[in-house]
Amino acid sequence: MDQFIYQNPTRLIFGEGQVEQQLVAQLEPLGKKVLLVYGGGSIKRNGLYDEVIALLKTNGFIVSELEGVEPNPRLETVRKGIEQCRRDDVDVILAVGGGSVIDCTKAIAAGAKYDGDAWDFITKKVEVEDALPFGTILTLAATGSEMNAGSVITNWDTHEKYGWGSPHVFPTFSILDPQNTLTVPKDHTIYGIVDMMTHVFEQYFHSQQNTPLQERMCEAVLQTVIDTAPSLVENLNDVAHRETILYAGTIALNGSLQMGTRGDWASHNIEHAVSAVYDIPHAGGLAIIFPQWMRYHKEKGEQKLYQLATRVWNIDPSGKDKQQVVEEGIKKLESFWQSLGAPSRLKDYDIDESRLEEMAEKTMVNGPFGNFNKLQKEDVLSILKASL
Ligand code: NZQ
Ligand code: ZN
Repeated sequence: MDQFIYQNPTRLIFGEGQVEQQLVAQLEPLGKKVLLVYGGGSIKRNGLYDEVIALLKTNGFIVSELEGVEPNPRLETVRKGIEQCRRDDVDVILAVGGGSVIDCTKAIAAGAKYDGDAWDFITKKVEVEDALPFGTILTLAATGSEMNAGSVITNWDTHEKYGWGSPHVFPTFSILDPQNTLTVPKDHTIYGIVDMMTHVFEQYFHSQQNTPLQERMCEAVLQTVIDTAPSLVENLNDVAHRETILYAGTIALNGSLQMGTRGDWASHNIEHAVSAVYDIPHAGGLAIIFPQWMRYHKEKGEQKLYQLATRVWNIDPSGKDKQQVVEEGIKKLESFWQSLGAPSRLKDYDIDESRLEEMAEKTMVNGPFGNFNKLQKEDVLSILKASL
C-alpha cells in the first residue's frame, strides 16, 4: 500500500435523541451567531426545523437562516450564504439536511473567509486557507459529506459541476439520528444506497498492491448494504435498517476505506458532467454509469471484478471462465439496483445521444482521469454510449 497520514477531525455523534442531548453543547464553544442552512422544506414538514429552532432560541443563540439549498447545490446559493455570513457577522454555521445542504455549507464556510469569489476554490484555482466552523445534522444517508472534507457545487450558468475539498471544511461535529432519516422518500432512499455502494466501489478499484484489509473492509460495507437495502426499501419506517444504512453511508466515504490506496473516482467525474448538463440526481446517474464503467474494464480489471463477483455476490466460479464470472457479477449488481427501483439507462431520464460529446468534453477539464485506469475522452464517450 502507499504511505499515508490519516486524520479525521469530525466528531461523529450517532443515535436516537442526540440532537436534543448534544446540539447546544456542541455549538456553544463555536459562537452565538448561527447561520442555519437547510433545503427545500423537508425539515419543516417532519418537525426537525421546529426542534432545532426551539433548542437554539431557548439557549440564546442568534439565528439567521438560509433556506432553499437545491439538490445539486448551486453557486448562486453559496454566494448568497457567504453574503449572509458577512452581513450577520456569523460565528458558526449549522447545516441541517442531506449532502447538498452540507456541501453548500462547506462552500459558504470557506467563502466567508475568502476575499474573492467562491468559484475560485471550487475550480481549484486557489487553495482554501481558512473557513468558518460548522456542524451538521444529517437527514439523508448517502454522500458521507457529514464526515469528510469534500463538496460538490454546480454553476448552473455555465453547466459545470465540480468536486473540491480542503482539510478546513471537515465538519466540527455531525449529529446522525436515524429517526431523522425516516421521512426520506423511497426514491432518495434508493439513490442514497446506490451512492454509498458506488463510493465503496470507487475505492475498491485501485492499483495499489497488498491491501487485503482495505478490500475486506470494502466488501463488509457492501455486503451489509446488500443485506439491508431490500428490506429497508420495502419498509421505509424500519428504524433499525435506517440506522444500519446511515452508519454505512458515513463509513463508505469518511476516508477509512481508502487508507494507503487511491480510489478510481472516474465514474463520479462522468456523473458530475451528466448532472451538470441535465440536473439529474447524482446517484441516478451513478446507477447507470458505474456498471458500464465496470464492463468497459472487464479485461483490465478482471482480477478485482472477479474477486468482487465471488466474494460479494457469491457467484460460484466452478466450470466457468473468469470473464463469465466477471459478467455475472456485473449483471448481479445491475439487477440488484433495478430490483430496488434505481434507473439503468440514460433514456430513463430522457437523455439521448445529442449531448454526449459535450458531457465527455466536460469530464476532461483537468485532463485524463481515473486512478485505476486513466480515461481519455473517447473512453468516456464509449461508456456514455453504452449507458444510453
Ligand atoms: O431539500 P429538502 O427539502 O431537504 O429535500 C431533500 C432533497 O429533495 C430530500 N431530503 C433530505 N433529507 C430528507 C429529505 N426528504 C425527506 N426527509 C428527509 N429526512 O432529499 C432530496 C435530496 O437531498 P440531497 O441532499 O440532494 O441528497 P444527497 O444527500 O444524495 O446529496 C447529493 C449531492 O451530494 C453530492 C452530489 O453530487 C449531489 O450534489 N455528493 C457529495 C459528496 C461529498 N460531499 O462527499 C460525494 C458524493 O459522491 C456526491 O457527489
Ligand atoms: Zn457519490
